[in-house]
Amino acid sequence: MAITWRDQMSVGHPVIDGDHKALIDILNTFENLTRNGAAFIALDQTFRELAEYTKIHFAREEALQREIGYPLRDTHQEKHRVLVGRLLAAYKRFKQKREKLESEGVACDHHSYAELLGILNAWLLEHILQEDMKLKPHIQRHMESRLAAG
Ligand SMILES: [Fe+2]
Ligand SMILES: [Fe+2]
Repeated sequence: MAITWRDQMSVGHPVIDGDHKALIDILNTFENLTRNGAAFIALDQTFRELAEYTKIHFAREEALQREIGYPLRDTHQEKHRVLVGRLLAAYKRFKQKREKLESEGVACDHHSYAELLGILNAWLLEHILQEDMKLKPHIQRHMESRLAAG
């Protein structure tokens, strides 16, 4: 099920929102590839893209948290670390499964990728909607104080 960006997903920061949109785009690409039975190499590539962008985004978000003095940033950073770990572990698990199937002469296992996609969707969306959303009032306050300072 493709994810559509909604205004309620906005944390009130254009760069961070842009990153979240880009991550959703990659997930939707992944879904299209899975649904269309694309070659595994394309799926692998898209997954790597997702992992890379996730890391870049997390670093950018953590820098913003430092900049605005976000009080929960240690907890948030830990959640990022856990998420990256889970992402890579899930991918490794599915890759091993695929390689095993391939070694048994089963060429395709798009079902596994669809399952992986479901997990990734849930993790990322949950993080954006529950954890990143807590940043919103802090971002707002920071922007207002900068405006007030001229
Ligand atoms: Fe985020
Ligand atoms: Fe985050």
